[in-house]
Amino acid sequence: MELLKVRNLKKVFPKHKVTALDGVDISILKGEICGLVGESGCGKSTFARAILRLIDVQDGSVLYKGQDLLKMPYRKMRGLRKSLQIIFQDPYTSLDPRVKIRKTIEEVFIVHENLSSKERKRRTLETLEMVGLGATYLERLPSELSGGERQRVGIARALATEPEFIICDEPVSSLDISVQAQILNLLMDLQERKNLTYLFISHDLGVVGSICDRVTVMRKGRFVETGLCEDIFTSPKHEYTKNLLNASRLHLA
Ligand SMILES: Nc1ncnc2c1ncn2[C@@H]1O[C@H](COP(=O)(O)OP(=O)(O)OP(=O)(O)O)[C@@H](O)[C@H]1O
Ligand SMILES: [Mg+2]
Repeated sequence: MELLKVRNLKKVFPKHKVTALDGVDISILKGEICGLVGESGCGKSTFARAILRLIDVQDGSVLYKGQDLLKMPYRKMRGLRKSLQIIFQDPYTSLDPRVKIRKTIEEVFIVHENLSSKERKRRTLETLEMVGLGATYLERLPSELSGGERQRVGIARALATEPEFIICDEPVSSLDISVQAQILNLLMDLQERKNLTYLFISHDLGVVGSICDRVTVMRKGRFVETGLCEDIFTSPKHEYTKNLLNASRLHLA
């Protein structure tokens, strides 16, 4: 089943005349991990933000189960935001430094659900435990956590609303290699257990190849090629993809 279908999405930042999205299309199936790769500045995060209506676009549609998110009244979109979540690249800036972990998670339940305070506390702890953090983290500030632990909190916050679709915008880029593997394993495990659908954004082809079912290659605001990972990695059609693969092989060697 097609969960998300994006058509002809266009975004220009007028002030600096940057065309960040030049009419892009994608189709994401329920339960899959769909990769999006491309160089820094090609428009990946802009695409993520546009899908969730965190920024306005000039043209296009974003169909979620057939409903256009971009044309939806704001109230209805807010209700749907429970089902569509995002995990950001940088766990240092995506968490408020003054807010304790307990409150970061509890706030999600206050905004989206009508729970008794006891039930809210139970769900907060349960959500933290889902990402491998326990009660000892509740009263800590983000600065009292490691980078990997902070990213776990970011994941917990996204999971709290029990979403169906999560955009992971370079979720491990800011972490060192061993922590990257832990967080990727956690994301994979959650995806399987909760039958989640991911749009997984990365500039690291190795990471994308190891976890994604399909991948789309992006360049300067356009999607140049889409296919199953095994096909794109073994027989890329587009010159740009070949160069990207060669560069990553050199980097790995
Ligand atoms: N608010 C903004 N105003 C003007 N230009 C912007 C704005 N946000 C992004 N851009 C520009 O849009 C382009 C795409 O940026 P974007 O953040 O989507 O890239 P990216 O692919 O996510 O890069 P990275 O891999 O470094 O995260 C860049 O040229 C960037 O300078
Ligand atoms: Mg980005």
